[in-house]
Amino acid sequence: MAADIETVLTEIAAEMAARPDRGDVATYIPQLAKVDVGRFGIAVALNDGRLIARGDAEIPFSIQSVSKVFTLTLALGKVGDTLWRRVGREPSGNPFNSIIQLEHERGIPRNPFINAGAIVVTDVLLSGHQPREAIGEILRFIQFLADDDTVYIDHQVAASEQATGFRNVALANYMRSFGNITHAPEMALGVYYHHCAIAMSCRQLALAGRFLAHDGRHAETGHSVVSSERARRISALMLTCGHYDGSGDFAFRVGVPGKSGVGGGILCVVPGVASIAVWSPGLNENGNSKLGSIALEKLAKAMNWSIF
Ligand code: DON
Repeated sequence: MAADIETVLTEIAAEMAARPDRGDVATYIPQLAKVDVGRFGIAVALNDGRLIARGDAEIPFSIQSVSKVFTLTLALGKVGDTLWRRVGREPSGNPFNSIIQLEHERGIPRNPFINAGAIVVTDVLLSGHQPREAIGEILRFIQFLADDDTVYIDHQVAASEQATGFRNVALANYMRSFGNITHAPEMALGVYYHHCAIAMSCRQLALAGRFLAHDGRHAETGHSVVSSERARRISALMLTCGHYDGSGDFAFRVGVPGKSGVGGGILCVVPGVASIAVWSPGLNENGNSKLGSIALEKLAKAMNWSIF
């Protein structure tokens, strides 16, 4: 008999709340260093319409790189598969903020989820827009997907990263020298920092991810957000590249597409079944949520949700 999801989540949340080994919060963005490492939240939006949440699932956190799933979706909507002339689709095997591959690979980042790739994606979203408009477009898209217009940008986090994001400045300028950033680097970075600073609760994030679990359709209306083929491809990139140099281990342990953020959030998709958001701000050695990954491993195992 299939395990009962309510019971499984109750047990996982209780276990995670009690664990002493929680990893370390990110400190290179000063505003993130202030977050309480004791937090743990999880929300599961099932395709049958149920939303089940446990722990700190209503507290907004900085989604950081999880936002790259949504900016990639928007950029593909804008320029289609021509995006792949400027960004690759291979795992990098390197940390999220690495610069080394760009030199030998003509300024073309390995994938849209490492920082360099996500900055190119924001450059695409800037075309024909002022930075403020591009930021607004990203925020409204996420609000639409979550059916919730209270999703907001934490301007203190954006300012904190703007003041300290020296590596991202280097990445953007380096790619500009290859012609793969077409706007002023500071404009692309401004948009990038603001979408990384979007704050959402686990409940809101799980709801926003439903279109990927629903074959590209908006869960409430059934309207197509992206084609089913595109939803599959975005999910494939989450599986292969969503956890940077920890992507292989995440696929091995959890077995579903997932995208992590340095704020401690992870968005997971169980195709045809559920969208899951988990948050625990302590990170493991690859910069991915330590307890979030463990909780997802336990959940996928208990529910038999691995895609393999
Ligand atoms: O650019 C940065 O470093 C952050 N705004 C996002 C990095 C991130 O979330 C990496 N994820 N684990």
